Amino acid sequence: MHFKNQLIVTAGLLTVIALSVAATLPQQQQQGPPKLVNLKVFPKNIPYRVLDHEMDVWCASLGVRCNFCHARNDQTGKMDFASDAKPEKTMARHMYLMTAKINKKFFEAKKDTLGMVMNTGVNCNTCHRGESHPEIKVPEEHHGPGGPPPGGAGAPPSGK
Ligand code: HEC
Ligand code: HEC
Repeated sequence: MHFKNQLIVTAGLLTVIALSVAATLPQQQQQGPPKLVNLKVFPKNIPYRVLDHEMDVWCASLGVRCNFCHARNDQTGKMDFASDAKPEKTMARHMYLMTAKINKKFFEAKKDTLGMVMNTGVNCNTCHRGESHPEIKVPEEHHGPGGPPPGGAGAPPSGK
């Protein structure tokens, strides 16, 4: 009889414990945005939504998706945003520093409240225009007034 009562009490206690654990679970899952663990050029205290916005702007400027710079974890099949496996990510860091330097040095850009140099002069899209790899090409020469006519000196006027 005694033993049976103890069982009931124990079972009751276990239920209480289980319930209170369950009550704290949703809170633990709402930890908020993922922790950023491998920042080398952005400020360490950058809020996730600011970083996320920057990533969206980069994607649009280069005409790519996240996986252009970020590698996938082979085991889990999930994106591993902290990994530096892809050279494009390293290149993007260089590009970010270059862009900040141009803005600071030549466009007198100030820093925002996070300490990031503002893109008052150039941004990724200034050069990339929706392309991941902007071709370096010398523009075709345009011969305006005073230049030699197309086809070389002495050629009949083309009418253009
Ligand atoms: C053009 C390359 C590029 C693209 C495209 C890109 N990222 Fe990034 N991402 C980076 C670089 C570079 C860093 C590291 C910044 C640093 O070192 O401060 C980074 C960092 C991150 C981090 C922080 C990881 C950590 O824990 O340190 C997250 C999260 C992230 N990116 C998400 C995304 C998402 C989501 C997309 C798609 C919407 C995306 N990125 C597209 C280059 C890119
Ligand atoms: C002043 C012009 C300029 C600006 C500004 C610029 N880029 Fe670039 N970017 C280039 C050029 C040019 C190349 C190609 C370099 C080459 O041929 O090696 C390039 C290449 C890259 C690549 C490598 C692409 C590939 O095919 O592997 C990435 C990634 C990149 N840029 C990201 C960025 C990001 C992100 C920004 C903004 C933070 C940015 N760039 C700003 C000119 C620029």
